[in-house]
Amino acid sequence: MKLQSKSTTIFLFWYLIYIYASVLEASNDSDGGFELEKKEEHHVKISDFPTGFFFGAATSAYQVEGAYLEDAKSLSNWDTFCHSIGCGENGENGDIADFHYHLFLKDIEIMHSLGLKAYRFSISWARILPRGKCGEVNPAGIMFYNKIIDNLILKGIEPFVTIHHFDFPQELEDKYESWLNHEMQEDFVHLADICFKYFGDRVKYWTTFNEPNLFTDFAYMWGVYPPARCSKPFGNCRTGNSDVDPLIVMHNIVLAHGKTAKLYYQKYKLEQGGSIGIVVNCLMFVPLTNSKLDVEATQRAFAFYIGRVLDPLIYGDYPQEMHEYLGNQLPNFSIHEKYILKNSIDFIGINHYSSIYTKDCTNSTCSPTANRAIQGFLDIVAMRDGILIGESTGIEDFYVVPKGIEEIVNEIKFRYKNKPMFITENGYSSPDLHEKRVNVILNDTKRVKFHQEYLEFLAKSIRDGADVRGYFVWSLMDNYEWLSGYSVKFGLYYVDRETQTRIPKLSAIWYKNFLLNKTYPINVRAYA
Ligand SMILES: *[C@@H]1O[C@H](CO)[C@@H](O)[C@H](O)[C@H]1NC(C)=O
Ligand SMILES: *[C@@H]1O[C@H](CO)[C@@H](O)[C@H](O)[C@H]1NC(C)=O
Ligand SMILES: *[C@@H]1O[C@H](CO)[C@@H](O)[C@H](O)[C@H]1NC(C)=O
Ligand SMILES: *[C@@H]1O[C@H](CO)[C@@H](O)[C@H](O)[C@H]1NC(C)=O
Ligand SMILES: *[C@@H]1O[C@H](CO)[C@@H](O)[C@H](O)[C@H]1NC(C)=O
Repeated sequence: MKLQSKSTTIFLFWYLIYIYASVLEASNDSDGGFELEKKEEHHVKISDFPTGFFFGAATSAYQVEGAYLEDAKSLSNWDTFCHSIGCGENGENGDIADFHYHLFLKDIEIMHSLGLKAYRFSISWARILPRGKCGEVNPAGIMFYNKIIDNLILKGIEPFVTIHHFDFPQELEDKYESWLNHEMQEDFVHLADICFKYFGDRVKYWTTFNEPNLFTDFAYMWGVYPPARCSKPFGNCRTGNSDVDPLIVMHNIVLAHGKTAKLYYQKYKLEQGGSIGIVVNCLMFVPLTNSKLDVEATQRAFAFYIGRVLDPLIYGDYPQEMHEYLGNQLPNFSIHEKYILKNSIDFIGINHYSSIYTKDCTNSTCSPTANRAIQGFLDIVAMRDGILIGESTGIEDFYVVPKGIEEIVNEIKFRYKNKPMFITENGYSSPDLHEKRVNVILNDTKRVKFHQEYLEFLAKSIRDGADVRGYFVWSLMDNYEWLSGYSVKFGLYYVDRETQTRIPKLSAIWYKNFLLNKTYPINVRAYA
């Protein structure tokens, strides 16, 4: 109780400062702007990006919606998982999250006030089809997403919709082991069909899956995401085979994508005129040394991590390196399947946060988990000669390496012949997970610097010809970060967990001004 009233006072204090800063700014716009421009000349500007470029922010259903059992939604795999083991640091889960299911209008208001041109969100499968393809469509779920889409469009914000962002009805797991079973492909295509049918008149940018590469590895190799399957030495799970299951799961996901794209192209595209893509977790791999072996291991890392998803959807088969190293363990595509898969995406969604060094394991001793075919006999490490690749963040294996975004974009541009790209996620979380002082959390100068520097390098890749069409900050607001619970914070907005109040951080103010084509110093006057 005491804590709560103290924090309320702090919020009020910061709100007032924020309003004061805005008034100051508005009252002295041109003068202030001119002075800042001279000082901050090197900073990236919105005019460094093409016209029509989509600047936005992203969230996902389980991480923000809450309302986990309202209006006939069924339990998802994440609901079940977090209720049984307790997910976050303190056993936190997404039951309430950011209460976005009830506060979405306010959140769209926030997006509008920032001047966002696009918003990326995902559909909760368990809300739309609580029992998968064997049950009825839930009208309340359709109504919820219709309201979001309509209100976004009313505000001139383009909806980018992800159909599958890690969560699906638990019933599909219980009935047939979800993604380990090819039946999941048909279930997914049915979900996508419902989405196109009900939302496709207004949604023009679809992505089928969010980060299937991270999902398969976390859920089926490391066993840390539901259904928590794995085998030694990767982890200690009740069941699973880390050397094989991730390949089967990816095979089903890739085929589900192919069949969905076919459906969209045949049944909807002509009338609705949208496009369809997929979102891949894209670490930038950098050779640890310039030895031939480490350079080859780095190419293999790209093939095993990124090519595993994109090669089939663009060229119709897994990368050569995977065939070489996995042999008969790699599932096969039939001629007909290859035909469906080839050219089944209109754009590539890139989630990029970090770069990492890559080290060969074919000719040196690595950890038991790296030294395996499923990993391409390579290891990733953060240090070279005792120096970290970049500053640490709140997520293990994520370091601040701004140039990495230029490098990954150029690599993807080259390998996939400059297919249109969107940066569907990029963001910063502070390593200080136990920071509770709201004034310190709001003064997120490092997040501002992170986005400025990554955007500078992104602009450079675009000047060099990369067809990148949008950039989404992860995330609009602090939310439920899976296994990290609520302690890892990526948001432009701070969310008070007791009151659900959204408070703009310095980064939100910076983003707003950036989008207004104003350069802005990191230390806003009133914060300094
Ligand atoms: C506005 O700008 C003028 C001239 O640069 C300056 O003298 C004045 O203090 C500024 N006012 C505020 C409110 O910042
Ligand atoms: C943005 O501001 C710069 C000066 O900082 C100017 O050259 C450019 O034309 C502006 N662009 C737009 C789109 O307003
Ligand atoms: C894939 O096809 C090859 C060649 O036809 C065959 O040797 C291999 O066993 C097949 N693999 C699987 C997993 O079916
Ligand atoms: C493999 O490792 C050994 C010992 O570390 C080294 O002498 C040899 O040159 C390496 N082979 C290649 C092809 O780099
Ligand atoms: C915000 O942080 C910056 C450096 O990170 C510091 O210089 C400044 O004093 C801080 N402002 C407040 C109000 O804490």
